[in-house]
Amino acid sequence: MVRRIVVAFLSLGCAFAAPVLADEDLLARSRQLFSPIPSTPPELPGNSASPAKVELGKTLYFDPRLSASHAISCSSCHNLGLGGADAQPTSIGHHWQRGGRNAPTVLNSVFNLAQFWDGRAKDLEEQAGGPVVNPIEMASQETDAVDLLKAIPGYHEAFAKAFPGEAPPITLANAQKAIAVFEATLITPNAPFDRFLKGDAKALSPVEKQGLALFLDKGCADCHNGINIGGGMYARFGQALKPGVEFLPPDDKGRAKVTKADEDEYVYKVPTLRNIALTAPYFHTGKEWDLRKAVALMGATQLGEQLSKEDVDKLTAFLGSLTGDQPKVTFPTLPPNGAATPQPAP
Ligand code: HEC
Ligand code: HEC
Repeated sequence: MVRRIVVAFLSLGCAFAAPVLADEDLLARSRQLFSPIPSTPPELPGNSASPAKVELGKTLYFDPRLSASHAISCSSCHNLGLGGADAQPTSIGHHWQRGGRNAPTVLNSVFNLAQFWDGRAKDLEEQAGGPVVNPIEMASQETDAVDLLKAIPGYHEAFAKAFPGEAPPITLANAQKAIAVFEATLITPNAPFDRFLKGDAKALSPVEKQGLALFLDKGCADCHNGINIGGGMYARFGQALKPGVEFLPPDDKGRAKVTKADEDEYVYKVPTLRNIALTAPYFHTGKEWDLRKAVALMGATQLGEQLSKEDVDKLTAFLGSLTGDQPKVTFPTLPPNGAATPQPAP
């Protein structure tokens, strides 16, 4: 009788104590690998933010007249209502052309070690110069883009306010600076996982915690770590097992094109997993629409492991806890055309 009571007491005690201890252990391990998104935008080196510069950057981000057709803006492919991506396998650009890669999210991209799937732009400022002049994205010529901005009267004041004392303030470099400062505001704090990292043990459900434990134990966090749960390093897609050609077409050699090094063949920037539940389809080819299948593919290609259905479900539940507060962006009123503003190219 006494023994029965003691056993009952012990198991009761454990039932209470075990989750608490497990939570503490999970929290300690998580804090070594991840950190929460801050609630205020980070400062960019050499490109200080001001309200006028952020506002200009936002205006440019939404201005389709930066494209030759006047139909495509940054927001066409990085739609802030779609998690900062475009819900397309690969983006539709100038003359309905499709690019070769999936549009990554702009949300939290300020925290990535470099920009693009292959890291070819060192930061947001450098990146912002790419799409405007990319023939299959916005297809403007560099001089055309600057001439266009100069021919829209409202931009004179907006650039002068954002870059006081500079003559001439309207340059492509300044446009890139303003866009970068705006993009730095596109951060998503307060995800359930961030609240967990800050010490709120109830912020994650039991199954999300089991998914987090698997994420750590299986080795996902060896690559997807840091503030962006990714975005901090490069890795070979197919490290353990090469994926099929639909996911890894042989002509896109990834980072090798940037570094010219054979060992960087099929190496890509490890993407952020923040807001991943909002940004299907997945991978640089955009060939996978189902997050569960993307997780299972990662198990096979990166870890050499056939994950069970239960483990895939738990990992996917954890990934759902990475969705943060989406930026509240009011749509800017774009300065109207002037008499000399060029018309859209056919
Ligand atoms: C036609 C679609 C399209 C347009 C327009 C476009 N982008 Fe992109 N963006 C992409 C694609 C596709 C990639 C990935 C390309 C690659 O990695 O080679 C990308 C990559 C990026 C990245 C890198 C994110 C990361 O994690 O690596 C940022 C930031 C970005 N774009 C911002 C912008 C800005 C700012 C503009 C406007 C000046 C813009 N984009 C216009 C399709 C587009
Ligand atoms: C060895 C490094 C590595 C490991 C380990 C790893 N990944 Fe990845 N992950 C990557 C790389 C690189 C990509 C980009 C692949 C590409 O080129 O499309 C990626 C892509 C993803 C994507 C698609 C993201 C997007 O925006 O398209 C998801 C989801 C993902 N990983 C989840 C996981 C999970 C879950 C695990 C553990 C089961 C895991 N990863 C393990 C390196 C890794």
